[in-house]
Amino acid sequence: MDDFVFARVVHVLSVVLWIGGVAMVTLVLLPVLKQMASPKEAMVFFSNFRRRFAAQARLTTLLVGLSGFYMTFILDAWHRFIQWQYWWMHTMVLIWLLFTFMLFIAEPKSRKQTKTPLPQNITAQTFLDIQRKHLGLLILSLITIAGAVAGSHGWLIPGG
Ligand code: HEM
Repeated sequence: MDDFVFARVVHVLSVVLWIGGVAMVTLVLLPVLKQMASPKEAMVFFSNFRRRFAAQARLTTLLVGLSGFYMTFILDAWHRFIQWQYWWMHTMVLIWLLFTFMLFIAEPKSRKQTKTPLPQNITAQTFLDIQRKHLGLLILSLITIAGAVAGSHGWLIPGG
């Protein structure tokens, strides 16, 4: 297996683990937590869950970034960043940057604050807000995955 194919395999496996986890949290876990009788208990559970998932997501995000930039280098595809038919290259990097910020900066920062008690005003609405944000990221990720699979196998918007 050549280096490029290996990088593609690592890229796709990491995307599956990472975005698959985001889908599970958004579509399964958060709706269940929203219905729990005690929103405070649900938040404690969610914080522990998120911490564990963040550890896995940090590794997969790192692998996605390394394999992605390696493929861009091998393909010498930097010019794609100034061609709009390759919009999915832009959104891949955008999603990667968003998650890198959340996982490597925001999440460790919030972990340091867990010693302070949970705010009193956690309600089902809190989970609805969290779910909305996750859903936005999930939809953007799925559109990007569809565009990247189609685009990297030759189905590009004509012109440009
Ligand atoms: C630093 C960020 C990233 C870079 C530089 C990057 C780069 C690349 C490159 C160069 C390819 C191969 C394109 C081709 O063969 O023409 C690719 C494929 C792909 N990428 Fe990314 N990527 C990044 C992040 C992501 C993210 C965050 C996702 C998911 C949301 C993603 C999903 C995919 C998918 C699904 C493919 C298609 C694989 C296939 O069908 O063979 N990438 N990426």
